[in-house]
Amino acid sequence: MNAVIAIDGPSASGKSTVARRLAAGAGYLFVDSGALYRGITWKALKNDMDVNSESVIDGVVDSVDFDFFTKDGAVCFRIDGVEPGLELRTEKINTKVSIIATYPSVREKVVSLLRGMRELGNLVIEGRDITTAVFPDARYKFYLDASPEERARRRHVEMAEREDIAEEAVLDSITKRDEIDTTRERDPLRVAEDAEIVDTTSMDLEEVIDYIAGRIEV
Ligand code: DC
Repeated sequence: MNAVIAIDGPSASGKSTVARRLAAGAGYLFVDSGALYRGITWKALKNDMDVNSESVIDGVVDSVDFDFFTKDGAVCFRIDGVEPGLELRTEKINTKVSIIATYPSVREKVVSLLRGMRELGNLVIEGRDITTAVFPDARYKFYLDASPEERARRRHVEMAEREDIAEEAVLDSITKRDEIDTTRERDPLRVAEDAEIVDTTSMDLEEVIDYIAGRIEV
């Protein structure tokens, strides 16, 4: 059975950058699980669907055709032959993806696809329910956290390269997503009993990576 290093945490806690770097260091594949929820949201919005309607999304979720491949040490995908790339990262998707991620039909599909990725190799995978629901048997489990203000600051720096958005608006959006992600009925974001919490508020990226790399043996 291939090894899994699982990292959960709230929006913009640095999970994906940290996970990508750890994967590169360990020679494992990096998986960004949120990208799959974003991919379903992207396809629904492209087809002008009402993402606030669970029955509408239930009706189409099975037809979202993910085609997975590995590139630069990461698991990537096309949907209907198209690689959505940075289109997954717009504020429009940010505001809708947490809603779609509350729907059980969507979660069942994504969880099953993510579990299948273990066949591809050893994984470093990040998300909201990886340590609790997708891979509760992961070899290592971490919960990355940071204050909402610090997360908004980091996400704003990242988004400002692509979109004109105020830092307060980013904080507002992150706070709303935290609320939806932690209160949804199905597999809400929470700290797994056996996960190690890493509060990165006053750490820089290199410190976080060094710390976690020092906690794992690969
Ligand atoms: O990590 P991210 O910002 O790309 O995640 C986008 C949304 O997807 C997040 O608000 C909640 C959902 N998500 C989830 O419910 N479970 C995961 N394992 C990953 C993401």
